[in-house]
Amino acid sequence: NKPNVAIMGATGAVGAELLELLEERNFPLNSLKLLASARSAGKKINFRGEDITVEELTHDCFEGVDIVLASAGGSLSKEYAPSAVKAGAVVVDNTSHYRMDPEVPLVVPEINPEDIKWNKGIIANPNCSTILMVLALWPLHKKFGVKRTVCSTYQAASGAGALAMQELEQETAAKLQGEDFENTVINQPYAFNLFPHNSPMKENGYVEEELKMMNETSKIFHEDSKVTATCVRVPIMRAHSESLNIEFDNAYTIEEAYEVLRSAPGVEVFENREENLWATPLDVSGKDPVYVGRLRRDVTLDNGLELWLVGDQVRKGAALNAVQIAELLLEG
Ligand code: A2P
Repeated sequence: NKPNVAIMGATGAVGAELLELLEERNFPLNSLKLLASARSAGKKINFRGEDITVEELTHDCFEGVDIVLASAGGSLSKEYAPSAVKAGAVVVDNTSHYRMDPEVPLVVPEINPEDIKWNKGIIANPNCSTILMVLALWPLHKKFGVKRTVCSTYQAASGAGALAMQELEQETAAKLQGEDFENTVINQPYAFNLFPHNSPMKENGYVEEELKMMNETSKIFHEDSKVTATCVRVPIMRAHSESLNIEFDNAYTIEEAYEVLRSAPGVEVFENREENLWATPLDVSGKDPVYVGRLRRDVTLDNGLELWLVGDQVRKGAALNAVQIAELLLEG
């Protein structure tokens, strides 16, 4: 029995990638509904050679839908996911709204696929930077025991949505012409610049994006993981980079760490040590795995490891992880 699927936010950056992945992975479908705002209703989007008309998201648009892939923003998931669940659908939510809800599983299929089983209608997709980090961290943790992780991110515009990507392009072009540019999507100059992540700041001085990485990791691993993060937005289109400094409980060798990562699902070692070339956002844009490299011993610790990691934020960081969850749902 093939499912009826709906994409909430089908016209956005993640929405477009969801469509591409459903097509590319030959996802079994009975029907596909594309939902967006009233502004986009009536617009046609091609899927598997057919034009599908975008419909306005409403509370009663989920009739007969089995799986909803939601990526229209947290407030819309908050408002509409319960209607979808009431109509009998399972919602795979890409937004942050339900992630830390104890009634909602938070799933990375390579790590905790079994958590899908206790869903009550909503399954949350973790934050993009979290997904990329935990894919490398989890297999290392299982082998050597991670005591503590320090993560610094270099995050692309895609994480702020399709409009932010467009603005970065326009701003870059304007600056190259020597013109003034007024940012309206991102709240500060972004082209030829970078800035600490602009998500809301909390009392302890961390911004929300950093707290997501810290809290979500513990929920996915089912234990109190010690992670601290500094998140930074860089003028890159769509792949996030991260540097990880990991302290293990146990002794390890660099060769063993490479071995663990080489055989980890969803992870690939990408490096050219001789020429000092490592994965970059341009190398990995549009690709599925998270690419790691530059493994080296932290000279300040007994069991410390430094590594570099890059992954496509829109793909494994969002749409691909959601589609993999939907595939697990179909496997039952
Ligand atoms: P629309 O294109 O009609 O505005 P992104 O994260 O790339 O900015 O994408 C956001 C997605 O969420 C888009 O598909 C957008 O549709 C959709 N969206 C935004 N506001 C609403 C709304 N009020 N109702 C339904 N969908 C919305």
